[in-house]
Amino acid sequence: MAIFTNTPSWLLGHWPLLVLGIIVTSVLAKRYLALRNIPGPFIASLTRLPRVIAVLGGRPHEWDLKLHRKYGHLVRMGPDLVSVGDPAAINVIYNASDKFQKSPFYVPFMIYDEEGLLPDPLVLSDKTMHTRMKKNAYSAYSMGSMLQLEPLVDAVTARLFKSLDEISGTAGHACDLGQWLRLYVTDVIFAVTFGEDMDFMQKGDPIGMMSMLEYIAGDYVAIVGQIPWLHKFLLGNGLVTSLVVGRNSPDGAVLDLARAQVARFREKVSAQEVSGPCTFVQRLLEQQQKDPSSITDRELITHAFGNITAGADTTAIAMRTIIFNVVKHPDIYHRLCREIRDEAKLSLPVSYADANALRYLDAVIKEALRIHPPNGVMYGRTVPAEGATICGQYIPGGVEVGISPWVVHYDLELFPEPEKFQPERWLADDSSLVARRRRALFAFSAGSHTCLGKNISLMEITKLVASFLVRYDIALDDPGATLAFKCRWFTPQKGLVVTLVGRESQEEVL
Ligand code: HEM
Repeated sequence: MAIFTNTPSWLLGHWPLLVLGIIVTSVLAKRYLALRNIPGPFIASLTRLPRVIAVLGGRPHEWDLKLHRKYGHLVRMGPDLVSVGDPAAINVIYNASDKFQKSPFYVPFMIYDEEGLLPDPLVLSDKTMHTRMKKNAYSAYSMGSMLQLEPLVDAVTARLFKSLDEISGTAGHACDLGQWLRLYVTDVIFAVTFGEDMDFMQKGDPIGMMSMLEYIAGDYVAIVGQIPWLHKFLLGNGLVTSLVVGRNSPDGAVLDLARAQVARFREKVSAQEVSGPCTFVQRLLEQQQKDPSSITDRELITHAFGNITAGADTTAIAMRTIIFNVVKHPDIYHRLCREIRDEAKLSLPVSYADANALRYLDAVIKEALRIHPPNGVMYGRTVPAEGATICGQYIPGGVEVGISPWVVHYDLELFPEPEKFQPERWLADDSSLVARRRRALFAFSAGSHTCLGKNISLMEITKLVASFLVRYDIALDDPGATLAFKCRWFTPQKGLVVTLVGRESQEEVL
């Protein structure tokens, strides 16, 4: 009886023991209750630390693949985290129903302004808001709208080629094409979004936008996304960010830039100075004029901001993968040149319709997106409250699950010898196998959160690769070179150093 009377004071006196007891019990409960049937390394059932270390080291794709090869389609990667490796499960987790909402992995991606959470579709788990954001930008992102913008892309491409010609000269001096492609796609995304670009190719990056995107939108989110509660003590904390980056929001500079560009565009519209193709922002403004309730100013700016943050690194990565692998494999290089130069007889400026009709080029692009997806970690989702059956196993509600494109793209059954660059896999005679491969191509995600910029990106990639081979003979400066890359949210490579020799027949069109 006495022990009960004295319990509160006993507990108070031994509170460190109590806290330890609670922590140990909750770790053991997580370890041995809900996910006990999901295989994985023992340590991962207790802590996410090994995964954090893998992401910190820039090699989570290798860690993910190793564990899936060992344990199968379901791997427990943390006390409440399951990685799914079965291509057939894509449609279970990522579908139109939106039942599996964005997991806390996306917390570090969230940006706040004076009105609260910025409604960036990438992070929205509020289905109504997400549907609204997608709906109000649907027409601006459509392929029809994109095709109208081809002249803007062609103008930036012509400037890229002029700069490359100056560097390479006729002697074919080496240039870091990987870096040029990053600047190029940034100019293109500004051009199609705002109608004018900032000439990153010539002027560089005065506001440090590209390094901010690399370190915050690429590295930070991938690392802290593994332990999202940490975010509020790091860049989610106004004081810390103002000390580290000198402002309240690390993405604030890019958001300010998007606001300024939209304001500038509005002024040009009022002054009737806008001519040429209907740009992304113009399309949203026209929609707003027709029906002001359909899209607010804040939503419009958010879409423009999203284009800048999501659209450049990813597309540059895909372009680097294609050019590197094509020049690395002489047989592929010659087959692609034959298709582009001799059979289709493309000339500059290359139209998307002409380039997109080329089957081998299409296969090369798909293979590049497969072998080196521009995003490096699983797209996290939360299992709905009622739980779900994935790969035949019941997973309780609240658990974080996700599929990494690197895991499904290296599935041994669908993609034998997955580390080999083989565009022919997309042209195989077995049409049902090719259809399964297409469904497993997960670079742009799937379901309700599929990449909104897929059309822009594919247009840019298809046109650029075809244009390059029309304009230049390309070779690696060091034929034995490999591309080094770090795998975080983005997977940017370094080392695409090439020599370019202009093809005379195409010089006069520049
Ligand atoms: C090769 C190029 C690209 C790749 C591989 C890529 C990849 C992705 C992926 C994987 C997601 C979804 C992540 C998830 O499911 O949680 C996504 C979403 C998104 N992407 Fe892309 N992206 C690319 C280019 C672009 C471009 C050029 C833009 C804009 C101009 C863009 C805008 C967006 C937006 C707005 C979302 C959010 C969609 C939503 O959640 O509803 N992306 N992208």
